[in-house]
Amino acid sequence: MANHASAPSFEISIETEDHGQAIEHLHQTVFGPGRFTRAAFRVREQGGHDAALSFVATRPDGEMIASVRLTWITTSVSRSKGLLLGPLCVMPNLQKQGIGKALVAKCIEAAKQANAAYVMLVGDQPYYGPLGFDVVAKRNVLMPGPVDLNRLLVCPLGGFDPSQMAGLVSHSDILPD
Ligand SMILES: CC(C)(COP(=O)(O)OP(=O)(O)OC[C@H]1O[C@@H](n2cnc3c(N)ncnc32)[C@H](O)[C@@H]1OP(=O)(O)O)[C@@H](O)C(=O)NCCC(=O)NCCS
Repeated sequence: MANHASAPSFEISIETEDHGQAIEHLHQTVFGPGRFTRAAFRVREQGGHDAALSFVATRPDGEMIASVRLTWITTSVSRSKGLLLGPLCVMPNLQKQGIGKALVAKCIEAAKQANAAYVMLVGDQPYYGPLGFDVVAKRNVLMPGPVDLNRLLVCPLGGFDPSQMAGLVSHSDILPD
């Protein structure tokens, strides 16, 4: 993965159990206790993220500096299988140096390989828009908790039509073929 011109040297790799504590500490630092009340957290607590589709950025000395996770989801009416992206977080002193964008790109690439129909997230459209995400077209997708629908974003993959998505988002254990 090529680094941003002004970014510190970093490498992206798959999350392992060894990263667990450092990731929890990063979440605590960046999001604080409010992270447990987020709608996306409620989906993730239904079954957890897919560690094989979750990534960390590390410095050459092995220090973890950023993390992103993907969680399998489905929607109760349309039943298409996709991945929920998040939390995405970069160490505060290393933000705005291209690490976040590199992790999102890695997630999209991995989601395609895993045959996900889409990647969904709750986040800022001005940041995620240029990376391939747009507001869920029809407002008939619900999260298991309050969410500003202008922040519910989807990146369709493999020709998937996001306008067909409908229903309540929940964790999915059953992966696509
Ligand atoms: C949001 C976050 C993941 C972005 O990662 P990053 O490595 O700092 O961002 P990048 O270097 O990839 O991109 C930086 C660019 O995005 C912009 N940007 C960052 N956050 C933004 C936001 N919320 N809305 C719009 N633009 C944003 C920056 O201003 C910068 O613009 P520039 O390239 O024109 O200078 C990181 O800042 C972070 O961890 N923030 C706190 C946790 C958080 O909010 N996570 C996202 C939850 S959805």
